[in-house]
Amino acid sequence: MSTATLEPAIRVQGITKSFKDLEVLRGVDFEVAPGTIFALLGSNGAGKTTLVRILATLIAADGGAASVHGFDVASAPADVRRSLSLTGQFAAVDEVLTGRENLILVAKLRHLRDAGAVADRMLERFSLTEAGDRKAGTYSGGMRRRLDIAMSLIGEPPIVFLDEPTTGLDPQARIEVWETITGLARSGTTVLLTTQYLDEAEQLADRIAILHQGTIIQNGTLAELKKLLPSATVEYVEKQPTLEEVFLALVGDETGTSRKEL
Ligand SMILES: Nc1ncnc2c1ncn2[C@@H]1O[C@H](COP(=O)(O)OP(=O)(O)O)[C@@H](O)[C@H]1O
Ligand SMILES: [Mg+2]
Repeated sequence: MSTATLEPAIRVQGITKSFKDLEVLRGVDFEVAPGTIFALLGSNGAGKTTLVRILATLIAADGGAASVHGFDVASAPADVRRSLSLTGQFAAVDEVLTGRENLILVAKLRHLRDAGAVADRMLERFSLTEAGDRKAGTYSGGMRRRLDIAMSLIGEPPIVFLDEPTTGLDPQARIEVWETITGLARSGTTVLLTTQYLDEAEQLADRIAILHQGTIIQNGTLAELKKLLPSATVEYVEKQPTLEEVFLALVGDETGTSRKEL
């Protein structure tokens, strides 16, 4: 992994965006260091998806500037798109195809040689080898989301946007997806993830930015953010994962994945 560059993987400066009279983003600023996991935390309707869509060049901002992998989203959208993958809240998986066929399809769309081998490597990496020849429509929520992430990673983009990757998943599936995301960052990929879950940001993120009423109202490491909170709130945040552990202990953790360290 190269440490030669100090250039942020993602830079967002004064981004604004309105839909008619609705001012969704009123000047958003943050930077994401390469190879880190950055969580954009905000409640429903805060503008998380809007910001992700601007960074992915799917919609234009009204004002401000943003760059991804050193490329300006307004003036070099093709380079930006080549540098990132985007996994949305709603899986792009085709249910009629098998997991392997879904992956092969994407590999072919990206003009990769030996799409079958690419698919097999992805199945292996995301623990889907056994399920690879089953129709994706038969997959559990966690398997589907993992397949979706695997599909978005074909071509090995250096930066990955995950828009609410675990919304709608049960606790076991969430932990599977969390492990996938941690693994991504370990391999050097920069991850920008949006979430409305405190515990998700707490578990995964190197830095957390809170998007509220159109601006980033706080941005820091978990330790930095915790110092800002009154103790009663901290207590509440810390109790959430414990409930999950109780839940998993009661229903059994079939995935055999490791327990959370807290
Ligand atoms: N294309 C659009 N046209 C009009 N309003 C939109 C559009 N996209 C999003 N919005 C509104 O912008 C606000 C932020 O939406 P969104 O970015 O999806 O929030 P989040 O992803 O944080 O839940 C919401 O009030 C939403 O209804
Ligand atoms: Mg959203």
